[in-house]
Amino acid sequence: MSLKILRNPIDSGAENPDDATIENISKFEGKKVILRGWVQNIRSSGKIAFLQLRDGTGTIQCVAAPNDVGEAKFEHLKTLSLESSLVIQGSVKKDDRSKIGFEIILNDIEIIYKTEDWPIGKKEHGVAFLMENRHLWLRSSKQVALLRVRAEIVRAIRDYFDGRGFYLVDSPILTPNACEGTSTLFETPYFDSKAYLTQSGQLYAEASAMALSKVYCFGPTFRAEKSKTRRHLAEFWMVEPEVAFMDLKGDMDLAEDFVEYVVQRTIRNRAYELSILERDLSVLKNVKKPFPRIRYEEAIDILLKKDKPAKFGDDFGGDEETVISEQFDRPVMIHRYPKHIKAFYMKEDPEDSRLCLCVDVIAPEGVGEIIGGSQREENLEILRKKIEEHKLPPAAFDWYMDLRKYGSVPHAGFGLGLERTVGWITGVPHVRETAPFPRMMDKIYP
Ligand code: 4AD
Ligand code: MG
Repeated sequence: MSLKILRNPIDSGAENPDDATIENISKFEGKKVILRGWVQNIRSSGKIAFLQLRDGTGTIQCVAAPNDVGEAKFEHLKTLSLESSLVIQGSVKKDDRSKIGFEIILNDIEIIYKTEDWPIGKKEHGVAFLMENRHLWLRSSKQVALLRVRAEIVRAIRDYFDGRGFYLVDSPILTPNACEGTSTLFETPYFDSKAYLTQSGQLYAEASAMALSKVYCFGPTFRAEKSKTRRHLAEFWMVEPEVAFMDLKGDMDLAEDFVEYVVQRTIRNRAYELSILERDLSVLKNVKKPFPRIRYEEAIDILLKKDKPAKFGDDFGGDEETVISEQFDRPVMIHRYPKHIKAFYMKEDPEDSRLCLCVDVIAPEGVGEIIGGSQREENLEILRKKIEEHKLPPAAFDWYMDLRKYGSVPHAGFGLGLERTVGWITGVPHVRETAPFPRMMDKIYP
């Protein structure tokens, strides 16, 4: 008799043993199930073998004895190397020593593919080697846990906005203009002319907000970052809400409520994965409203008190952000930066023309900026001047100026970088591990 290799892809949720996965194994206690997966580890001593089987949803220990699976299959199983693929059948048994509370007593196995020489062994590998083999490295338990946390964060982001009256309106990826300055643009031929990969969906989200009032876009964004830091990718995902009739205070309220929701839900739903990543959850449990809100000038004072050189007009890099965020036990919101270090579309502060109505959210533990946002300049004439001052090509922004010509209203929004957020919640210090296939200055393969 051969096992059923192919699965029903639609888990009915019913107690059908053929829908069993390691994640939902508790539903099948005492029952016989079929599982399909890969060898994560195997060891044997005499007449018993212990297989760590992973199926993408988790890892479970399977115990094999020749009497149960037959002598020939038992001997074959013992020779399997890591990442061989197989289908097993066995009974689900409660086991208090197991991390997931269960193990499987095997009664049949079918080997699908016998892998030889799996390149990622148990010895420590350098990052360069692992990145070259990213397509295989993805299968290791920490990387699987990371991807599962990332998927949960994406779901939390979508649920947050979908559940609060926001419409998803995605912005284009090929654009004729810059949003976040011209120094990090990826240019690409576009039929007889040229285009740029988007740096941010914001300008289009503003147009969508004038149509639908509360919107968000969520997609890949691109920056030709010529710096090799642990926080910069050339391709990253950004979620960008944009709301008509909202000011900077509303923007900060939204960012704070949103970050609390995403963090608290992720640590609730992905506690197991976060334990695999050895993440200390105590800091994350603290991520509750209200977040401290400080003005840019107060941030400068903090730096000076900590003997860091700083003066009005300086932009903050990773080091400054770390020093500032160390003063607080949760994310800190820094608002009203000098306008000349910020983007052209930000509204000038009516109470101090040196400043603009913007906010950066700085995550703790040295993670740094995860959100940049602002109230937008809604006045046509001021915006026209800003485009000139920033030396941007006015013709490319004609459509954007129309938003101010026709029914312009106060509005605001922000962008949260997905990879930095995943890095923060998982405690992984470098963003290269937070994307399945990261793109960086010196990295496009695989
Ligand atoms: O602060 P930024 O540049 O803001 C904008 O793009 C606005 N247009 C957003 C808006 O208001 N709708 O970028 C927003 C966030 C940053 O806080 C950071 O989390 C992330 O995007 N980010 C990057 N993440 C990884 N690699 C990079 N090179 C990033 N650049 C920005
Ligand atoms: Mg920023």
